[in-house]
Amino acid sequence: MEVAETIHEMRQRRRIQGINRVVGVVPTMGDLHAGHLRLVDFCRERCTFTIATIFVNPLQFGPKEDFANYPRALARDKAELERRDVDVLFAPSIDEMYPGGQSGHANVTVPNLGDELCGAARPGHFNGVTTVVTKFFQITQPDMAFFGEKDWQQLTIIKRMVQQLNMPVEVIGVPTCRERDGLAMSSRNRYLTREEREVAPALFQTLREVATHLHEGSTKYADLEESAANKLREVGFRPDYVAIRDPDTLRPPSSNQDPVRVFGAARLGRARLIDNIGVER
Ligand code: PAJ
Repeated sequence: MEVAETIHEMRQRRRIQGINRVVGVVPTMGDLHAGHLRLVDFCRERCTFTIATIFVNPLQFGPKEDFANYPRALARDKAELERRDVDVLFAPSIDEMYPGGQSGHANVTVPNLGDELCGAARPGHFNGVTTVVTKFFQITQPDMAFFGEKDWQQLTIIKRMVQQLNMPVEVIGVPTCRERDGLAMSSRNRYLTREEREVAPALFQTLREVATHLHEGSTKYADLEESAANKLREVGFRPDYVAIRDPDTLRPPSSNQDPVRVFGAARLGRARLIDNIGVER
């Protein structure tokens, strides 16, 4: 595996080695876990040239968020990616990505979708994501790009961006990788204490209960959302939202709409956990 730290090196590798190959990119912020590695596996199965990126993107963190403390583990990550036969790892510095600083940087915005759900609790977050992903697409020129369904809103916004801005990239969503007890894998799970880690699977369980009610025909969305949030509060979470939404528009669905998706975000100790599941009725 080659490691490119500059945009120039990355472009050169792409131009020379990526020629006549199906190029896939897996953008990450590192501290890789089995969920990230599943994206890499998906990419390796569908592409003949796999690029992974590791960059903790300051642009997508709010002023009170965990940018400084976000877990970084580049040496271990490199070894994992090497083991999976990734062709190139692009791991730029902040200066390389934002040489003139972050303020005043060009910005890619997908209207509306980014204001829903996590966008309400994290203003500007999705602009930071779409901006850096656009830069990665420009730098790596992929045919395909892989994103996890765990971050469904992010995946949806990136699909919309690619469609509306005619980016020649096929965006592939990859199912959520979970711990044995159902907790969605996330770098932020590291923030949980042992006690909190035992409580954490309740987020997925609660969303699953909502899904079961929907399966059984309930259309009382507001009631289901409220009682799920209360349940999370009872076990120690501080929920941002539990929301039943249209999977594509992320807007509240009509009563007969099918499929729908159940989204949840909740703080537990220092961690903010998110999860979502699809429901076909
Ligand atoms: P990060 O949180 O590192 O996640 C990188 C990719 O891995 C994302 O597409 C995310 O959805 C996926 N992923 C994370 N946990 C997963 C799990 N348990 N199962 C399946 N996929 C999972 O998301 C980001 O970084 C950033 O916003 C990024 C897109 C890299 C832009 O900075």
